[in-house]
Amino acid sequence: MCGIIGCVGRDDATLETLVHGLSKLEYRGYDSAGVAMANGGVDVVKTSGEIDDLRETLEGSALTGDVGIGHTRWSTHGPPTDANAHPHQDCTGDVAVVHNGIIENYQSLRDELVGAGHTFTSDTDTEVVPHLVEDALEAGVDPERAVRDAVSRLEGSYAVAVVIAGEETVYAARNDSPLVLGLGEGETFLASDVPAFRDFTDQVVYLADGEFAKLDAEGWTVTTLDGEPVEKDVDTIEWDPEETGKSGYDHYMLKEIHEQPRALRQCLRGRVDEMAGTVDIEDLGDLSPTGVQFVACGTSYHAALYGAQLFREAGIPAQAFLASEYATSVPPIGDALVVGVTQSGETADTLSALRAARKRGARTMTVTNVVGSTAARECDHAFYIRAGPEIGVAASKTFSSQQVALNLLALGMTNTGDVREIITALRELPGNVQRVLDESVAEDVAEVYEDAGAYFFIGRGYQYPVALEGALKMKEITYKHAEGFASGELKHGPLALVTENTPVFAVVTGDGEQARKTVGNVKEVEARDAPVVAISDGQSDVDRYADHVLELPETHPRAAAVLANTHLQLVSYHVANLLGRNIDKPRNLAKSVTVE
Ligand code: F6R
Repeated sequence: MCGIIGCVGRDDATLETLVHGLSKLEYRGYDSAGVAMANGGVDVVKTSGEIDDLRETLEGSALTGDVGIGHTRWSTHGPPTDANAHPHQDCTGDVAVVHNGIIENYQSLRDELVGAGHTFTSDTDTEVVPHLVEDALEAGVDPERAVRDAVSRLEGSYAVAVVIAGEETVYAARNDSPLVLGLGEGETFLASDVPAFRDFTDQVVYLADGEFAKLDAEGWTVTTLDGEPVEKDVDTIEWDPEETGKSGYDHYMLKEIHEQPRALRQCLRGRVDEMAGTVDIEDLGDLSPTGVQFVACGTSYHAALYGAQLFREAGIPAQAFLASEYATSVPPIGDALVVGVTQSGETADTLSALRAARKRGARTMTVTNVVGSTAARECDHAFYIRAGPEIGVAASKTFSSQQVALNLLALGMTNTGDVREIITALRELPGNVQRVLDESVAEDVAEVYEDAGAYFFIGRGYQYPVALEGALKMKEITYKHAEGFASGELKHGPLALVTENTPVFAVVTGDGEQARKTVGNVKEVEARDAPVVAISDGQSDVDRYADHVLELPETHPRAAAVLANTHLQLVSYHVANLLGRNIDKPRNLAKSVTVE
């Protein structure tokens, strides 16, 4: 996830407007940034680092003009370096491009362009775009057509903005990555998100996939990629500039919960072939591990517990370990691939466990969200979950993205089991998460139980890590006592804590043995007067014993685990909100724990 901006302004304030807009988009990425101004020629200034680093780099530059584009980056191809920062240019320096998304066919386009004599200066997928535009311009095509032709060669997701020397115009197009126009007084903007220009206008036009925008001194037009005019509605933004960054949500966490459908699509993009029933886990090579040992902390450990089950189901012995224990304990026997699951890639306990494994000669891999993180640099292999930056301290979209990424890894490495059925369920998952977000009655449940003494969460199989995660989220952001248990464990001690003041959240999916047994455990708590909230797909008879039901669409149990977690995220969020907690920055916690 990156942030892009473009502006056709009135005066020399345009550069400052672009940089200000980028600072509002920093939540989308903050590892490098840059701007290009079209002022007769095209001038680019860019740097690794945050927007403040860009400001510093701009001091003393002679950049000027009233037409420009800008970018703040979250790496997906290539580490965060000056060279990989956007905008990217062609060989002549006459074309500059900013891009958000993933161009799936960039390698074949790059091979073709290199074969035709183009020189590339970055590792990014984006750089193919200015070279494609350059090719078309050299063939005598007019600038607008050149951009349309270049964009029509791209496969994957993109929001791109392009400026060309001699043109006082910003061209833009989108497919599966957001792009919105802002209509100001005598100036026109485009950006990945409204906060980028909300200080200047509340009039917006949302572009749809396959649309092409042209911004110039005359105003703006939207057409299809083929040039057919498109009638667009102008919307008025109701929320004020103060709320920028959260896109109108009260908290980053709520925004990030709602970003999950997009994050999961991004995680799946280009990695599954539904027709062929196969998963392509990129350039990880032939890993074929004889065993897998996961190491992780907190929420990522819950994803690891889930991941270990996926691998065991595919016939590969796998276990999940708490990283802080693994690093300092007698190592488990076996020649396993050691996989560190870590959103940040910087968690000291996980890095330490991975280093201990490497010292013993183990091959290591990280499943992480951050390109260029320490885990990604130190491990033999890195697999990216592509969730985009997560600002809220409590993990939300990164957990579901880890779940999906681990499915892809298990399928990609083994290609055994009901692969086709699972791929279909994964494909349907973003839409199903959206359904849960739209229909969940989690807020009503939160209102009923906001004063509860404690909260218990139970589940079996794939739903056990979900129960643990549900409890962790509740603890973290509400500061209330919460525990997650394997359903069968309740009767081995914790049942003593169960009263009419301790709601039990039971995740029950399917109608098999695991569901039947968990329903038995639900009856045990119901008999002790505990209120029951079932997270259920309606296939078992748990709903009969429940005081409230958070409904799940019928799907594969692996996918149901992601959906159940979405409901539980919302319950914790709403309880915390009712209690007035500092949801995005809970007390005593940090986003990245860099001490052991
Ligand atoms: C909980 C949470 C933490 C992290 C843990 C590991 O919401 O965010 O439990 O999951 O600190 O962090 P990463 O995944 O960055 O290694």
